[in-house]
Amino acid sequence: MSSKSTSEKPNYSALADIYDLVMADVDYETWADYIDEIILEHNPETSDILELACGTGTIALSLEELDCYTITATDGSAQMVQKAIEKGERVHSEIEFLTMDFLDIRLQKTFDVVFMVFDSINYLHTEDEIIQLHAQVKNILKPGGIFIYDFTTPRNSRKAIQFLNNDQKEINGQTRYFRESTFDAKNRIHTNYFRIIKDSALNRGKEEVFEEKHHQKIYTHKEMLSIIKKTDFTILQAYDGFELRPAHERSLRITMVLQ
Ligand SMILES: C[S@@+](CC[C@H](N)C(=O)[O-])C[C@H]1O[C@@H](n2cnc3c(N)ncnc32)[C@H](O)[C@@H]1O
Repeated sequence: MSSKSTSEKPNYSALADIYDLVMADVDYETWADYIDEIILEHNPETSDILELACGTGTIALSLEELDCYTITATDGSAQMVQKAIEKGERVHSEIEFLTMDFLDIRLQKTFDVVFMVFDSINYLHTEDEIIQLHAQVKNILKPGGIFIYDFTTPRNSRKAIQFLNNDQKEINGQTRYFRESTFDAKNRIHTNYFRIIKDSALNRGKEEVFEEKHHQKIYTHKEMLSIIKKTDFTILQAYDGFELRPAHERSLRITMVLQ
């Protein structure tokens, strides 16, 4: 007889196991090339890079293939970092992967570039937290160093829910997931609810269900500019999507380059 147990998990703990499969359609190689392009444009002498919120390390590992940079990569989720370490070991990577909250960065080194991608900053819900992140990054940047990150806009959330809501996939014979994606336009909160179902034969027919609820605060371009004004950074550029052209009011994703 089969039975079921359901447990709510911290963000990116249960999801870590299937994260790369959930993100299978994301073109991380192009994303890494885009970060490299920005570096070449704004700080071409870069050698030391820190990635924050690196997840399972895909972009860091892709950047390492360019053979130009010494890379440290951190994430707040120990489970995501563990996946990154395992992927790194498989390709004999020299990247140092560490578990670290980006609001409490503890590193002895300084860097030419600090970057974080894929709307990781949208996990910060208050202006104070965003200012704190910038202050943390400033402490570990070399003089003239740059901070690159992207955020998604309300327009993106309105579009994204159309294909993310009710997304479901069978990962392998034993694991499947279901995602509900909603956008509260008034409070500008984008919620992704993941339900991960593991039905392992080894588990004597017992179905295990893990739930994660991710809330992201969605900022407008104008809001982000006004927050950045309160930090010690100046804006070198705000780019539209994955292009090297300026962001505009219809941009879905904006990549900030700050010094
Ligand atoms: C959308 S994922 C992006 C991961 C990776 N950058 C990628 O492109 O696949 C967001 C990541 O932000 C991390 N994260 C969220 N809040 C964090 C925090 N306060 N400190 C460090 N990492 C955090 C999560 O653990 C997660 O790996």
